[in-house]
Amino acid sequence: MLHYFPMKVAISISGAQGKMGKAVSSLLEKSPLFLLASSILLSDVVIDFSSPSKLPSLLKECLQTQKPLVIGTTGYSVEEQKELEKASQKIPVFYAPNFSIGMALLMNALDLIKQQAPQDSLIHITETHHVHKKDTPSGSALLIANGLEQPVSHILSIRSNEAVGTHHIAFELLGETLSLQHEAHERSIFARGALEAALFLMHKPPGYYTMKDLMNA
Ligand SMILES: NC(=O)c1ccc[n+]([C@@H]2O[C@H](COP(=O)([O-])OP(=O)(O)OC[C@H]3O[C@@H](n4cnc5c(N)ncnc54)[C@H](OP(=O)(O)O)[C@@H]3O)[C@@H](O)[C@H]2O)c1
Repeated sequence: MLHYFPMKVAISISGAQGKMGKAVSSLLEKSPLFLLASSILLSDVVIDFSSPSKLPSLLKECLQTQKPLVIGTTGYSVEEQKELEKASQKIPVFYAPNFSIGMALLMNALDLIKQQAPQDSLIHITETHHVHKKDTPSGSALLIANGLEQPVSHILSIRSNEAVGTHHIAFELLGETLSLQHEAHERSIFARGALEAALFLMHKPPGYYTMKDLMNA
């Protein structure tokens, strides 16, 4: 049986005029692997960096056209997250509040640390982002907090100038502090991760995929 693999993967960007949308188009233009699709219907994969208010129309269109969907938007409510999971029963959905490799590695390190950290250690998360960021705390800070086995003592959100994004996690142990920090220097790291997720998602069956699936692939 012959399988059809397109010469280039056509990507439709939702939120194309935003900071992340522009970072994705800029990478697409330089890549021999991808091209920018003029509509969702003409795309192989849809990448969304918009806002939660876009979710209903985005899901409707992706479900109608049966297009795989990579989502990087943060700030979803519990109900909106459930809508995403419901859609993933019919189309492949890749959701990551942070597409960087560094954050994926940090999450792996946390998986190890949380198994052995004393249960009474105090955990503090500090996230710093640019002043235009709409959601607080950041999606990555929530991802970190939800992935830990013990409750986080507090999450501090700092908004400063044009900061791309820094996450600092401190475990206060008896007489010592263990700190981990991820600092994003440029938006292209998230755009690159989203394009890798798009390649990963092509030809996948419906399902809910995350950075863990990409890192293990
Ligand atoms: N997963 C990751 O790795 C990652 C990394 C960075 C950012 N993010 C997240 O990605 C999202 C976008 O970030 P950004 O910095 O690119 O924001 P941004 O600069 O504000 O861009 C968002 C874009 O989406 C459009 N948009 C928003 N709501 C819409 C709607 N209902 N209908 C149509 N268009 C809509 C906006 O258009 P208008 O300006 O016309 O409203 C704008 O062009 C945020 O949730 C952010 O937290 C995720």
